[in-house]
Amino acid sequence: MLRSVARALIRPLVLAAATSAIPLASTAPVAADSVVVGGFPIDVSQAPWTVALSSRDRFGGTRAGQFCGGVAIARTTVLTAAHCLAEDVLGSPPNRVRDFRVIAGRTDLLADRGEEVAVRDVRINPGYDSGTNAGDFAVLTLAEPLPRSAVVAMADAGDPAYTPGTQALVSGWGDTTGDGAYTRRLHAAHVRVLPDDLCARAYPGGPDGTYRAGSMLCAGEAAGGPDACQGDSGGPLVAAGRLIGLVSWGGGCGRAGNPGVYTRVSEIVRTLDAAPGGQKRSHGTH
Ligand code: ARG
Repeated sequence: MLRSVARALIRPLVLAAATSAIPLASTAPVAADSVVVGGFPIDVSQAPWTVALSSRDRFGGTRAGQFCGGVAIARTTVLTAAHCLAEDVLGSPPNRVRDFRVIAGRTDLLADRGEEVAVRDVRINPGYDSGTNAGDFAVLTLAEPLPRSAVVAMADAGDPAYTPGTQALVSGWGDTTGDGAYTRRLHAAHVRVLPDDLCARAYPGGPDGTYRAGSMLCAGEAAGGPDACQGDSGGPLVAAGRLIGLVSWGGGCGRAGNPGVYTRVSEIVRTLDAAPGGQKRSHGTH
């Protein structure tokens, strides 16, 4: 059901890619204690909805072609960040990446546990704004279903999981130092949902980006420390067992006063539901 909604909503990728500008990927310096530093290694069974986006053709085989994170919201549906699929990241529109796959059920990228599933269809949110990074999500449809146990539910608007102070887990294979130390093993960090006014003060519209409470949320610790970082984009932020955010951007990684910014999942739900026929999307059973 979600798939047909996404199909109706999201324009063909070629068009989206042709009209999108350079994505926002922060190049600001980062503190030594970044990412999923302040974080810890986990086994994928502890966050089985975390998947890696891969193309060995584009990114080489040393880390199984991993270039972004993603999250399974249905057995054949994965959410990721729109900016992960920009032409300047992939070197071409994503539908021309022949070996574009999702890796699921794998902790160590170089192990052969879990599965690699081909991506059959890519839909970038037509409302994605690469200037502000608002609406930073895309919907991938897989060629084969993932195990049911890999699927996480999305938190609708009003879900208490969005309440500031709620503890959440972010997971991914991104940079663990802020110096380009991309990890082979899945890492995670505990962060807290932060109040919108704090996020808006942190990002009023400088070079790092502009915080938009309607479509973004921010999380971290006021003093800095645990955070997502480059390579984690598109990956999950989960609180109370439900998906509340996708890793999107930030000013550096783990810096005091520069919390991580996430695509607000309730806004993704609203966007998909608002698409023609979208009210038919079934909650909890997809
Ligand atoms: N844009 C980055 C990526 O493409 C994610 C950055 C997240 N930064 C942060 N401080 N939380 O992987």
